[in-house]
Amino acid sequence: MIDYSDVQGLVRFGYPRMIEACFFLLRVESPAAARSWLKDVSITTAEKLAEPPKTALHVAFTCQGLRALGVPEDMIKGFSPEFISGMAGEESRSRRLGDVKANSPARWQWGGPGNEPHVLVMLYAEPGRLEGWKQTVKGPFWDAAFQVLHCLPISNLDGVEPFGFVDGISQPEIDWNRERQLDGSDELEYGNLVALGEFLLGYPNEYGKYTDRPVVDPKDDPENKLRPAEDQNDKRDVGLNGTYLVLRQLRQDVPGFWQFLDKQANSDPEERRRLAEAMVGRTMDGKPLVATTSRPIAGTGPDDIELNGFTYESDSAGIRCPFGAHIRRANPRNADLPLGVTGFFSRLIRILGFGRKSIRDDMIASTRFHRILRRGREYGPGLSPEDALRARETEGEERGLHFVCLNANIGRQFEFVQNAWMMGTKFDGLTEESDPLLGNREPVPGCVSADTFSIPQQNGLRRCIGGVPQFVTVRGGAYFFLPGIRALRYLASLGG
Ligand code: HEM
Repeated sequence: MIDYSDVQGLVRFGYPRMIEACFFLLRVESPAAARSWLKDVSITTAEKLAEPPKTALHVAFTCQGLRALGVPEDMIKGFSPEFISGMAGEESRSRRLGDVKANSPARWQWGGPGNEPHVLVMLYAEPGRLEGWKQTVKGPFWDAAFQVLHCLPISNLDGVEPFGFVDGISQPEIDWNRERQLDGSDELEYGNLVALGEFLLGYPNEYGKYTDRPVVDPKDDPENKLRPAEDQNDKRDVGLNGTYLVLRQLRQDVPGFWQFLDKQANSDPEERRRLAEAMVGRTMDGKPLVATTSRPIAGTGPDDIELNGFTYESDSAGIRCPFGAHIRRANPRNADLPLGVTGFFSRLIRILGFGRKSIRDDMIASTRFHRILRRGREYGPGLSPEDALRARETEGEERGLHFVCLNANIGRQFEFVQNAWMMGTKFDGLTEESDPLLGNREPVPGCVSADTFSIPQQNGLRRCIGGVPQFVTVRGGAYFFLPGIRALRYLASLGG
């Protein structure tokens, strides 16, 4: 059984009622004071209480932050290479994530070279409680412990992201009870129930394997703060119940988005909306563009059928939901065999390795190895599509998304989705396209332009919209480790 009291609550809850929030990005000024603050502070856990909390607190560290706290290098080596290097740590990583030109880390407000935070402190509160909660959380050690780099403000847009679409609809269902058979066999149907080990370290992942993480000898844990590692009984698990948290501040050019679509639609409001919905892959109020399936999807409950009971099997030509739509790229909802391989013999042929027929087969990897748990929050003032048509994007009035996702393997989950599916110009057999919302439109080797969006039509032709501008610009970002509660106390006891 999973010990929910050892898991930070953010992994299990999105806190929809806690509409006030702020994210502190901190640098450690005094490691001793920071350790005292960490020992004292009360993190919200994933336990379900009779009375749900009205405030919540979460703490995560960058690799530099762990070093600043005094975590020894031997232990740091156990973390994943992506975390150790950092989001902006290598040019090749920046290129793969699309962080070039306007998105380049050199231009970021935070997280770029020499500007990396050490600690992320996330506060959530029900209305009217945030200011008081900040003071409670700070306590006596905060001022000596930290320098505040930024306090990222969060705004409440009532569940709608700044372009005007309902957000937070599709999430993987975590297999908390460990019901999934993870014996390495192919999954022939898309499912939404995903192995616990995809989102928490210390448990088997979708491959049935344990993701690498730091473990220590019992002698290095003399106060028995940690639990034994499930897969290495002679070791104590520093990663157990922890995960990696990806934070990216994404500025959205809302006037630019609606004005571009207005031009394409010759100012016809219905057509403008239809184009925007084709780019996202859902209607503005969140409904899918494709029909729900008749077969049940594991991990999709009865309440969720209308919004999430679908795959793209019924739309293999992309006529209802274009191949390049944001949500089709972000989660192609396929199983371990390519789309269209349904009958017993077709499956057998594929399993035996024959019958590869289109380049599309290679472009979409099985979804279940690339799921992410999103916990983002919006920032900046709201702007309706109608007002956006008249507005100009001005400096100082920034709006966008503090994109947050949780995953146990940054490379295979967040980075894969961002690189292969979002930035990929050949995703699902497309050419010269990148994600219509997120793409930086920069040419990549072998593809001179990446600013097209195509919409397949009934007549077999594609409507191609060219010259799509960049609507989203990266303003900051970093990779964090969100430890389990025991590990957090353990890390706070090291150094000094
Ligand atoms: C400003 C930037 C972004 C905007 C405006 C945006 C908007 C949306 C919207 C409106 C949805 C549909 C509602 C939902 O299912 O929650 C969605 C879904 C999704 N987005 Fe984004 N998104 C952004 C950035 C990203 C990034 C950076 C990633 C990952 C690299 C991402 C991954 C996803 C995923 C995985 C889904 C769910 C797809 C599904 O399961 O059907 N998004 N996004």
